[in-house]
Amino acid sequence: MDTLGILTGGGDCPGLNPVIRAAVKSALLGGWQVFGFKNGWKGMVDDEFVALDDRAVSGILPRGGTILGTSRTNPYKKAGDVEKLKANFKKHNLKALIVVGGEDTLGVANKLYGEGLPIVGIPKTIDNDLSATDYTFGFDTAVNIAMECIDRLHTTAESHNRVMVVEIMGRHAGWIALEAGLAGGADMILIPEVPVDIAEVCRVIKHRHERGKTFSIVAVAEGATLKDGHEVADQKLDEFGHVRLGGIGQWVGGLIEKKTGFETRVTVLGHIQRGGSPTAFDRVLGTRFGVHAVELVKKGKFGRMASLHGRHIVDVPLADAVKQLKLVSAELYDMAKIFFG
Ligand code: F6P
Repeated sequence: MDTLGILTGGGDCPGLNPVIRAAVKSALLGGWQVFGFKNGWKGMVDDEFVALDDRAVSGILPRGGTILGTSRTNPYKKAGDVEKLKANFKKHNLKALIVVGGEDTLGVANKLYGEGLPIVGIPKTIDNDLSATDYTFGFDTAVNIAMECIDRLHTTAESHNRVMVVEIMGRHAGWIALEAGLAGGADMILIPEVPVDIAEVCRVIKHRHERGKTFSIVAVAEGATLKDGHEVADQKLDEFGHVRLGGIGQWVGGLIEKKTGFETRVTVLGHIQRGGSPTAFDRVLGTRFGVHAVELVKKGKFGRMASLHGRHIVDVPLADAVKQLKLVSAELYDMAKIFFG
């Protein structure tokens, strides 16, 4: 019986369990046995795994997080880890490994594929910043959660005549802030792609209040930066060299209050956006990705990633997905500006 491995890496994301369920069910149907490696690349390095049968994936479709656990372990960071990983690959006689992750996890997958491992990728991130796919699963859930939070902030902003700044996830790309902001009717959306001009933000808010509005909602992506600079809250780096973000909301909120005189409050949505049950869209997308990845394995199409193009699931080279991040275009941001103020 051939053995297939699967792992989930990077930040957790609603839809991971539907992917695991779909991959396991299709692989079992094809007569494979499946090993799930625990906590991302760490499980492959330390040889921590569980056998995944029908029972193991029963009931996980609506559950957030990942039954396999996840981590931001980078095997290329510590000398000897890649060798250990390859030895475990051999020990279990894995015919293929399905790697579910974002730019960092899939970047490692692509490198290992280049070194000869039979790997297939599935794009995952709430940030939706992976190239070569229209959407990653998890994004839709995060947008809907953030939109609901903006709706809730609206009613309290209105009651208190306040400016409400809401900090939304998005390290390099402002997709969640942009779409949740548009869907929730934010009065200003600030994203990492466009350095924030605080004087302009205050001008727009003041103008809005001069027109008789008594409150404003400002959606700011956590990776946004001020044109004039600000301090990042925590300089601790993860194994892929990323700082822990957080704090831009406080900066923006503080400056708005100081420069406009309007009472301002700041809400940081944080990991609430990544927790809980996936939307129907993410469950279905994850399911389709999981089934497609197993098809790729069966056909021996390694170094590929399942991807959504329009309404179709296709596959693309893993290398294309990790080459460069997919950012919000100037055109889309200009469209959003119609609704500012
Ligand atoms: O993986 C995406 C993401 O949620 C980013 O939006 C965010 O910057 C980061 O992960 C947070 O990572 P962690 O959960 O490790 O703090």
